Amino acid sequence: MGLSEPSARLLTALVEARTGQRCDTAGNWRVESRLGGVMASRGLTDMDELVGRIVAPGGAGLARDVVDAVLNNETYFFRDSETFNHIGRFIRHMHDRIEPGRTLRIWSAGCSTGQEIYSLALLIAEELDGLEGRPVELLGTDVSTSAIRRAERGEYNQFEIQRGLPVRRMLRWFEQQGESWRVQPALRAMVRFRSHNILEAAPAGFFHLILCRNVLMYFPGPAREAALARFSDALVPEGGLVLGAGETVLGRSDRFRIAEDFRGIYEHLTDFPPRAARLG
Ligand SMILES: C[S@@+](CC[C@H](N)C(=O)[O-])C[C@H]1O[C@@H](n2cnc3c(N)ncnc32)[C@H](O)[C@@H]1O
Repeated sequence: MGLSEPSARLLTALVEARTGQRCDTAGNWRVESRLGGVMASRGLTDMDELVGRIVAPGGAGLARDVVDAVLNNETYFFRDSETFNHIGRFIRHMHDRIEPGRTLRIWSAGCSTGQEIYSLALLIAEELDGLEGRPVELLGTDVSTSAIRRAERGEYNQFEIQRGLPVRRMLRWFEQQGESWRVQPALRAMVRFRSHNILEAAPAGFFHLILCRNVLMYFPGPAREAALARFSDALVPEGGLVLGAGETVLGRSDRFRIAEDFRGIYEHLTDFPPRAARLG
């Protein structure tokens, strides 16, 4: 059942080519256990046979399912909860700065199964008074089609719903349906999802805030730098970029600086490279 070294190498190359993610498939029990599900659904018992089917003609669909299965989709509501306090204040700050009536646009790149962007919707609806009727566009994207399908359904099991959501919020914004909890239509209507690969051009238009948390950490340096450049191209001047707790733009992009008043948020520079650096 284990992966031979050549098959592991092929799988690693496939995942990196499709997603930019460098994952160590060799000897990785989690990868093997995740692939177990794909194999069972295709009646396969041997990992090398699975890899053989991927490279054979007609293997594209299987390759997509395998990449989906190998991706790390770990997420939960209000992950790094302190950061959400700063994000809330940043959204309010943007709202106060842009023209009334103009749509405030937020993009969660690598949104996984939706908890991150639903947390933002909930924050806007509950704590920011819906931004007093300002149109808000919340876009969640992910390369994993199965994650996006789940995000669109907005349905979570008991374990998932309790991760990061206090009972009060769970009862207010989700409806119990048998064993699972489904997002209320009012919250669902605030969010749009679509498949998108961070290795490709950003969705059209400009955003005031981009979240790309716990995604770029698995990218090799050049892919990370290219992704940061694309985020910069998609952000309004002084827009915000939020990365995961262990991630940074420092040394990877000169188009951002740490936002002084909003911890965990990088402010998009209007003028890059920064003037001081250019003079030096
Ligand atoms: C660890 S989860 C993080 C989810 C969420 N941002 C959070 O911090 O809780 C990483 C997500 O990034 C997605 N991902 C990986 N590579 C990607 C790429 N090239 N383009 C878009 N999404 C990607 C994965 O499918 C996964 O859902």
